[in-house]
Amino acid sequence: MPKGLAYPDRLSLAQLPTPLQPLSLPGIGEHRLWCKRDDLTGCLLSGNKIRKLEFVIAEAQAQGADTLITCGGLQSNHCRATALLAAQLGFGCELVLRGDEPQVADGNLLLSQLAGAAISYHPVRRFQHHLPQLLQEAADRQRAAGRTPYVIPTGASDGVGVWGYIAAAEELAGQFAERGITEPLVVCATGSGGTLAGLAAGLNLFCPGAQVLGVAVCDDADYFYRRVREDLNACRKRYSQVNIPEPENYRVVEDYIGPGYAQGYPEVFETIATVACGSGVVLDPVYTAKAFYGMLKELRLGHVTARDLVFVHTGGIFGVYPERAALASAAQ
Ligand SMILES: Cc1ncc(COP(=O)(O)O)c(C=O)c1O
Repeated sequence: MPKGLAYPDRLSLAQLPTPLQPLSLPGIGEHRLWCKRDDLTGCLLSGNKIRKLEFVIAEAQAQGADTLITCGGLQSNHCRATALLAAQLGFGCELVLRGDEPQVADGNLLLSQLAGAAISYHPVRRFQHHLPQLLQEAADRQRAAGRTPYVIPTGASDGVGVWGYIAAAEELAGQFAERGITEPLVVCATGSGGTLAGLAAGLNLFCPGAQVLGVAVCDDADYFYRRVREDLNACRKRYSQVNIPEPENYRVVEDYIGPGYAQGYPEVFETIATVACGSGVVLDPVYTAKAFYGMLKELRLGHVTARDLVFVHTGGIFGVYPERAALASAAQ
């Protein structure tokens, strides 16, 4: 294990370390299943984003910013975490959201509103084609109001945010050592790529026997291989004193997206119900349930040889409520 990896400045915001718990589930044979409970990084701050934001907001502070701007879907966990952290730390916050304003806010959107974030809503096509411009306009608005904005990219996945899961990998490696786990397969959902990039790079450094499987929830595998390379390159460029080798310990599967990003399908809802009722762990419909279902399917297809399977629960609990109808049927 490398000693003294030079981490950049970081705020202490998440409840860490999160537990690594055994999970019992029928039908997994000789495998041992573990859950890294990153859904417990905080109650309202639950999930993976806060790990990245510890580094990203430290950078924003160092640059003298007083307002955080970021973007995502209407039910973005990342936007909710950013809005609540902004409120906690005394920053202003503006969210650029994809989709029309609903009549009644639910889930993450409701929490972002409660946190006092200024929110602009944009039709899906406009958001997809003009996001940099929309973020620029938000920054201009804030500057015109006398504020100093800092723009956080989608999912806080960039050369700064990637440190969140490099540090998480170091935490995991310590927990593996305590439990005698040497060659695990570590599984996570991948949406903007930063969690996967950090885990792959971090485990490559801290637990060389580990392999990482990213289960795509939106784009294809090539997109994520590119995103991982880009985030790590940006990190190397920004922190030139740090040596982060290119990881070769990961792969991405793109077979479990279903109809599209944030669109569930019966197996996803059933997975949420089965895991909740069998273990008390609640997965979310957009990210973690697709990844968990993908992991079980890969197992059944005989694509997994590792004895220890470590599922990284990256949060998303508030995404359960907007899917109440489908989940209520699955629970019966
Ligand atoms: C609950 C949850 N899990 C997983 C992810 C995927 O993480 P990343 O964007 O770093 O790929 C996200 C965000 O996109 C998320 O909100």
